[in-house]
Amino acid sequence: MSGTYILALDQGTTSSRAIVFDGEARPVAVGQRIFPQRFPAPGKVEHDPEEIWNSQLEAAREAISVSGIAPERITAIGITNQRETTLVWERDSGRPIGPAIVWQDRRTAPLCEELKKRGLEPYIRETTGLVVDAYFSATKIAWMLEHIPGARERAEAGELLAGTVDTWLIWKLTGGKSHVTDVTNASRTMLFDINRLDWDERLLRELRIPSSMLPEVLMSGADFGRTLPEWFGGAEIPIASVLGDQQAALFGHACVEAGHAKNTYGTGCFILLNTGSERVSSTHGLLSTIAWGWKNELHYALEGSVFVAGAAVEWLKDGLNLIENPAESEALAASVEDSGGVVIVPAFTGLGAPYWDMYARGAIFGLTRGTQPGHIARATLESLAMQTRDVTNAMEKDSGIPLRELRVDGGAVRNSVLMQFQADILGLEVVRTEQTETTALGAAMLAGLQCGLWELEQFRSFNPPAARFKPEMDKERREKKYRRWQNAVERTRGWEE
Ligand code: G3P
Repeated sequence: MSGTYILALDQGTTSSRAIVFDGEARPVAVGQRIFPQRFPAPGKVEHDPEEIWNSQLEAAREAISVSGIAPERITAIGITNQRETTLVWERDSGRPIGPAIVWQDRRTAPLCEELKKRGLEPYIRETTGLVVDAYFSATKIAWMLEHIPGARERAEAGELLAGTVDTWLIWKLTGGKSHVTDVTNASRTMLFDINRLDWDERLLRELRIPSSMLPEVLMSGADFGRTLPEWFGGAEIPIASVLGDQQAALFGHACVEAGHAKNTYGTGCFILLNTGSERVSSTHGLLSTIAWGWKNELHYALEGSVFVAGAAVEWLKDGLNLIENPAESEALAASVEDSGGVVIVPAFTGLGAPYWDMYARGAIFGLTRGTQPGHIARATLESLAMQTRDVTNAMEKDSGIPLRELRVDGGAVRNSVLMQFQADILGLEVVRTEQTETTALGAAMLAGLQCGLWELEQFRSFNPPAARFKPEMDKERREKKYRRWQNAVERTRGWEE
């Protein structure tokens, strides 16, 4: 398969990355641009749409230039993106009407309350597989129409388009020819019926969102359009796959069958379990979502979305100045034997799965005169593992399938202290795989599948296990620690109400 290349664009919450993969799905070149986060008011998180686009274009050009290959040798592009983050722009000029509202943004919590009061919660859960939360795109679009002067009239006149980040990037890449998304991104909007695979008329009505604003929804492997020649040295590269980043990571771990699960430790932590072609509805605070769709095959997943994971380690650096870079958290945590009774609940933006409490806020418990920075670092790392256990417990209850192992990826998996603790607190083997760029790999794999470069059966060999962490903690200690965590979480609930 030599001589063929796939370019994966990975537009994440804090950076835009691009990776060129060769015909054996090995990464050969990377480009990356960090772009600014904007926090205009407490609870508000915004990105500049042009910065998203420019950083992604520059990262892609850099990856191609580092790879040394001519752009026309790139067979296809796969796109993966931060999900739920929402943009609205003018159909004619492509000009955004305001900043992108990021998935972490909480400004629409009151609107979510109103939807609950109107009794829409059961309908939303049944139709979209989601809980009513400010996390998802629907209320973000509604907010823009309500608060940006003239937006509602213009939307009703068909002048405005809405989209998640994938849709925005494709719109830009194709010079406005394609206004499309894929089933995985659509399933995060709280407007998409995941049973019928179509936008839901009733929810659009309830939120006063004109359907003309919404993109066409395609399978995750499909023909999404071609890039304009001006972007990549004259080449018109087909865009062959689109997956939300967490679904892409699931795919990149080759979790393509029911029962496979993965956890990605990024800004947040996202644990997804492939439940196969049947949708499993959660009664334990998880989301039912679409894992991937290709040709006539569609897989669902159960997802536990934890809002703060790597962001808690960032807080050790920027908020507390305890470390100079996230990697130092490992040594600092290893400087003490255990957390010394300290428990940190990093509910900085509320709690996601399985609690869904928009009003919870973070807390540190168990401080004594002997508490040292090492204890704080260790308790912070432990909170990532504890939140993961909250989700895997719920997953086992919902699916009735006991997990056999958990595949992991994302920045924090290099931290072996954390990975060992994760295995200990789950009582489950944790598997770190060879490729660390699982998200980009997933998008590339699906693009390669779509172009006929690869077969599904090959996928496990693309990303074999590199390290296995086996549980070592005895059960009594594990359960005691976990009970203490649950107790701490309870005390953070409803703080901002
Ligand atoms: O749902 C939000 C998620 O897609 C963001 O992922 O990796 O950009 O933090 P990440």
